[in-house]
Amino acid sequence: MSKDKDDTTPTAFGIDIGGSGIKGAPVDLRTGEFAADRVRIPTPDESTPDNVARVVAEVVRSFDLPDDVPVGVTFPAVVQHGVARSAANVDSSWIGTNIEHVVGQALGRPVVAVNDADAAGYAEAVHGAARGSRGVTLLTTLGTGIGTAMVVEGVLVPNLELGHLEIDGHDAETQAAESARERDDLSWEEWAQRLQRYYAVVEDLLWPDLIVVGGGVSKHHEKFLPLLHLRAPIVPAQLRNAAGIVGAAALAARAAGVTVPGENAP
Ligand code: BGC
Repeated sequence: MSKDKDDTTPTAFGIDIGGSGIKGAPVDLRTGEFAADRVRIPTPDESTPDNVARVVAEVVRSFDLPDDVPVGVTFPAVVQHGVARSAANVDSSWIGTNIEHVVGQALGRPVVAVNDADAAGYAEAVHGAARGSRGVTLLTTLGTGIGTAMVVEGVLVPNLELGHLEIDGHDAETQAAESARERDDLSWEEWAQRLQRYYAVVEDLLWPDLIVVGGGVSKHHEKFLPLLHLRAPIVPAQLRNAAGIVGAAALAARAAGVTVPGENAP
């Protein structure tokens, strides 16, 4: 991290553990921007807990990180109190693993682990598309799976797993995720019909005030969001692929008791 950074700038370090890459950067918690360039290392082919933890440590070691900087990691599965409870799109050997323990040992410092969509949703609520919005915000990430997060008046409700709702006899993400669009070679219109069905069911159950759509495909939002007709406004995420890192950093800072001016915490 840059040494000439203002020492009073509250900083935390976020790491995004994904299927293809492990990315990390220090985050300026006031602005939600990276305080130094992001480092990315490919996820090991055999993505066992030990192998992944080793790469996370390599990412963190690329920075000169003071000991008191909180560190957060995202994980693409249910994370309950630091423990991976599912493994929809990751190596099943993770189930039951205490991510905070394994990664914390590799780093030699405490780590906070959170679900990837929760991190992205929290980041969008604090610094992105849902900043300042009242009531219930639902964030969805459209990628290999569908990640979902709910933020209510600034408070994250963790581990919402609405990507796995059963809709028309299917696990919803197998039909409506970005990976389904690619697999079935769908046009934007065809995919939008699947998204319409998905979001209509979710909306009938949750009644969110705002829906934010993230994931890599959200950069093409103008191709499919205007085709959706829902009660709530549905808008693209703003932080794009930085959201996981920013959210992991912010949630780690919160867990460490760091208060950030401007954060719309309750
Ligand atoms: C998992 C979620 C995850 C989402 C996005 C789903 O299959 O169950 O925990 O947030 O994929 O990675």
